[in-house]
Amino acid sequence: MPSTSRWPLALAGLLALAIVVSISHRQSTSNAQPLVQPNIERSKKLELVGTPSCSASVCHGGSDLGQPRSEATTWRALDPHARAYDTLLSAQSKAIAKHLWGDTIQAHDASLCLKCHVHPEYEHARPNFRRGDGVGCESCHGAAHDWLTPHYRAANQKKLGMADTKSLPGRASICVTCHVGTPDANVDHDLIAAGHPPLRFEFATYFANLPPHWDVEKDRKANKPKNIVVDFEFQTWGVGQDISAAAAAELRAYRADPKNGKPWPEFAELDCFSCHHDLHAKSRRQDEAYLQGRRPGQLFMNQWYDVMTWLTYPGIQEVTRAQRPTLDPVKDRAEIASLARKHAARYRETAKIRQMDAHHIARLKDVAENVSKTDVELAHADVSAQFYLALLASGRIYRNDELTARLRQGATFPPGYNSPHKK
Ligand code: HEC
Ligand code: HEC
Ligand code: HEC
Ligand code: HEC
Repeated sequence: MPSTSRWPLALAGLLALAIVVSISHRQSTSNAQPLVQPNIERSKKLELVGTPSCSASVCHGGSDLGQPRSEATTWRALDPHARAYDTLLSAQSKAIAKHLWGDTIQAHDASLCLKCHVHPEYEHARPNFRRGDGVGCESCHGAAHDWLTPHYRAANQKKLGMADTKSLPGRASICVTCHVGTPDANVDHDLIAAGHPPLRFEFATYFANLPPHWDVEKDRKANKPKNIVVDFEFQTWGVGQDISAAAAAELRAYRADPKNGKPWPEFAELDCFSCHHDLHAKSRRQDEAYLQGRRPGQLFMNQWYDVMTWLTYPGIQEVTRAQRPTLDPVKDRAEIASLARKHAARYRETAKIRQMDAHHIARLKDVAENVSKTDVELAHADVSAQFYLALLASGRIYRNDELTARLRQGATFPPGYNSPHKK
């Protein structure tokens, strides 16, 4: 598939992002103090007050980038989320909306786009709420109507709708609503074919690339794994895998369940390059090593959000490649939905108690080194990319530069192509 659209920039972007992770083990320079209490509940029905309510110069709108009380200034100057609404005015967004809906609705007016590029509850806002502020404070910290006044008196924010950004599972759960998607707003193959980048979220990488407006050292200390061999990045990676796999499984369960009336198979749930590839009379796609029990031509589930459960859930082989390749997305629809529901619950629960330790490192080493020996695995760009990101996250503890370089190559498309372009 030679490059005509822009979507594969997402993977290119992902790799570019990932490189930053490798240097993110450095010490932080920020020393912001926490101003708010954690909370586990995220209320949906509370009203959005808008970013300007947080940005007064005496509140979070000071002038020292990266410093306490300048959070809004940091966000506006450096954070990609501050421009998420502007993106809806771009030529690419105009084209996406036109492909999807003709001239009936513009991207910046479309509910589907606004739910992720502004706030999932953007309609539930004060009249003076400005969508132009994009993904603002309340998109991550929760609708502020009920906690705006009490929160600077150190009141308990529980039940007032302030979201849990403090704990890693709480934080990751916020990101995945937009970066993995929900039944209410997601990026399906219609959206992708219209020109939207496919979503390939990996929490440790994305978090490392968020310009911090908090005290990084304090945060790292608060979320340090119990096992001293392991560091913050690898703990973040593990929790992120749990929460991302959970969100992806919840979405898959919804799409696959016939009572929701969604198209199935949903192509975005399948391996992109099992369809989007060059044709060859004699192809490695007919080899048993590639097929792993499937018949040639049988559709193949997308592995991005599952492949790492091999490492993080060594006990439950049925979700991963051991059994998945033989699941037929067409015939086994009901089973796919019920497995996804079951596993989503388990992943969410595990995230709360997840502690990465030396065993995970040993297993990563083992699996990554084995995987890299088989060309078959490396042929899957998604598998290579996930292992590559895992190696970066474990970088301080287990380093293998040669393997990392090979995985990176496996995940990168040849110049001029939007797909792996292999036989
Ligand atoms: C993309 C998600 C996201 C957005 C958008 C966002 N924040 Fe944050 N914020 C975080 C995370 C993650 C943390 C770190 C964990 C914590 O301290 O709660 C944080 C921390 C904070 C803290 C605590 C700082 C500390 O060191 O304890 C303040 C205050 C804050 N944010 C204010 C804001 C304001 C004001 C805005 C809007 C201008 C905003 N945030 C937008 C995710 C976000
Ligand atoms: C309300 C939806 C929403 C939430 C919540 C959210 N994001 Fe985003 N994020 C977006 C959108 C939309 C973009 C694309 C912005 C653009 O370029 O228009 C984005 C972009 C990003 C980017 C830049 C990606 C790139 O390719 O350069 C990073 C990094 C990121 N988000 C990390 C996070 C993290 C980490 C969290 C959780 C702490 C989070 N986001 C929460 C919607 C969200
Ligand atoms: C499920 C949430 C979701 C929905 C729905 C969604 N987006 Fe996005 N969009 C994102 C995220 C997250 C990113 C950033 C992807 C990344 O870098 O990983 C993004 C990126 C983009 C980009 C690429 C931005 C860049 O800088 O390269 C465009 C353009 C875009 N979205 C437009 C739209 C339009 C138009 C719609 C509605 C038709 C829409 N989006 C619906 C979440 C969403
Ligand atoms: C079951 C097969 C199948 C799968 C799996 C699939 N697609 Fe498609 N895709 C199609 C078909 C069919 C079209 C329409 C092609 C045409 O009109 O010639 C299409 C069109 C597209 C287009 C529009 C541009 C073009 O080259 O046709 C893009 C971009 C795209 N797909 C990306 C993806 C991505 C990314 C994935 C994985 C998330 C994916 N597809 C998974 C079958 C598939």
